[in-house]
Amino acid sequence: MTVTPTRTVTLTDDATGKSWKLPVLPGTVGPDVIDVRKLYTDTGMFTYDPGYTSTGSCESAITYIDGEQGILLHRGYPIEQLADKSNFLEVAYLLQYGELPNEKERDDWVKHITYHTMVHEQLISFYNGFRRDAHPMAIMCGVVGALSAFYHDSIDIHDERQREIACHRLIAKMPTLAAMAFKYDRGQPFVYPQNSLSYAENFLYMCNSVPAEPYKINPILARAMDKIFILHADHEQNASTSTVRLASSSGANPFACIAAGITSLWGPAHGGANEAVLKMLMEIGTKDKIPEIIRRAKDKNDTFRLMGFGHRVYKNYDPRAKVMRETCYEVLSELGIKNDPLLETAMELERIALQDEYFVQKKLYPNVDFYSGIILRAMGFPMSMFTVLFALARTAGWVAHWQEQLREPDSKIGRPRQLYTGAAARDYVSIEKR
Ligand code: ACO
Repeated sequence: MTVTPTRTVTLTDDATGKSWKLPVLPGTVGPDVIDVRKLYTDTGMFTYDPGYTSTGSCESAITYIDGEQGILLHRGYPIEQLADKSNFLEVAYLLQYGELPNEKERDDWVKHITYHTMVHEQLISFYNGFRRDAHPMAIMCGVVGALSAFYHDSIDIHDERQREIACHRLIAKMPTLAAMAFKYDRGQPFVYPQNSLSYAENFLYMCNSVPAEPYKINPILARAMDKIFILHADHEQNASTSTVRLASSSGANPFACIAAGITSLWGPAHGGANEAVLKMLMEIGTKDKIPEIIRRAKDKNDTFRLMGFGHRVYKNYDPRAKVMRETCYEVLSELGIKNDPLLETAMELERIALQDEYFVQKKLYPNVDFYSGIILRAMGFPMSMFTVLFALARTAGWVAHWQEQLREPDSKIGRPRQLYTGAAARDYVSIEKR
């Protein structure tokens, strides 16, 4: 902990009149936090906060979000500037080391990542063990965890150099593993990485090339892919990043921790939302069905939610969604797709929802997933690959948080407490008396 308290707040038990002073810690920007670490020792009570809506789980210097203003900063740099001026590997470096690299640092970093793009040949048998119709996220959960069975020389979490190599390996191998999951789904041969290409180009090459004919990379699509990776690179303490941190807090190895993050990302309330958005847009089909969908989203007795809308932190337009929408136009125009019915439905849905009292009052705006599925589909990816691409990009953030947590001197195993409402102690009843 690097922060010192600037003031205190007082907690009073109205029943007994007892009160306790709690230190208040300031961040660089954003809300102050009440330090409750000694609360149980001092008061004998825990805080209750399922879903962690009011709980800070760690100190972090990686990413800052102002949800009210719709601001996202990585190490202080606005996401719009990074998406416009930087590239994914540079952003991954920034997340990892805290500063933009100079030329030498950038070249060394790219060299390290590029060096590790291949995966152990025996890993191919893992893929062949999956059913052909396996969801690629199911494959990713398995193969990323399995990396710990192949790279024994980078799983000692107490060795700084091994940790660094594990991060290089994870960032480098994710595109290869993801492209292999894609090829397996298609029934096409796996394509080895081509290290003369950039990170995004190499990924597109491994996904789209076949041995039977030459493959030419489209620079506009490669830039769009890179932007999509930047937009998904990190997002502070979201469910999957918190899962990585929680798994890591027990001392688990890096590959196991990232596999845990992938499982958490898979859910439709998190990374799986881009797949769910596209399914929803396809189901809507035509603009005249939008009012019915909006009615269902507002109906308290209907579990349906407008996918790609709403966010735990953003109560304003998600800044990533703006860049994603522009990228969507660029990609569709490059591919000569005019009047895409899905894009038209999405834009009309957005227009209507942003005027609707329910969405306005609850501050529900499009999130990063709202437009990403349309782009990825236009680029030829099946829906089942969408969350895999998210996992690929988010690995940059996950490993940065993993390193940050391991460097924290007073880091503890994550162990939430509970409000117990089950039976009190009672004696065992033998089966014949039940
Ligand atoms: N459609 C309709 N109503 C919604 C939506 C939505 N998409 N999102 C939230 N609401 C409503 C809720 O019903 C709730 O109403 P109530 O106060 O009357 O009960 C209110 O808004 C607050 O919603 P919560 O679920 O409490 O908000 P929370 O912060 O827990 O959820 C979440 C955020 C999970 C993202 C939610 O907005 C949602 O399910 N969205 C759709 C899924 C989605 O797009 N997920 C991607 C998130 S971005 C990412 O992970 C990369």
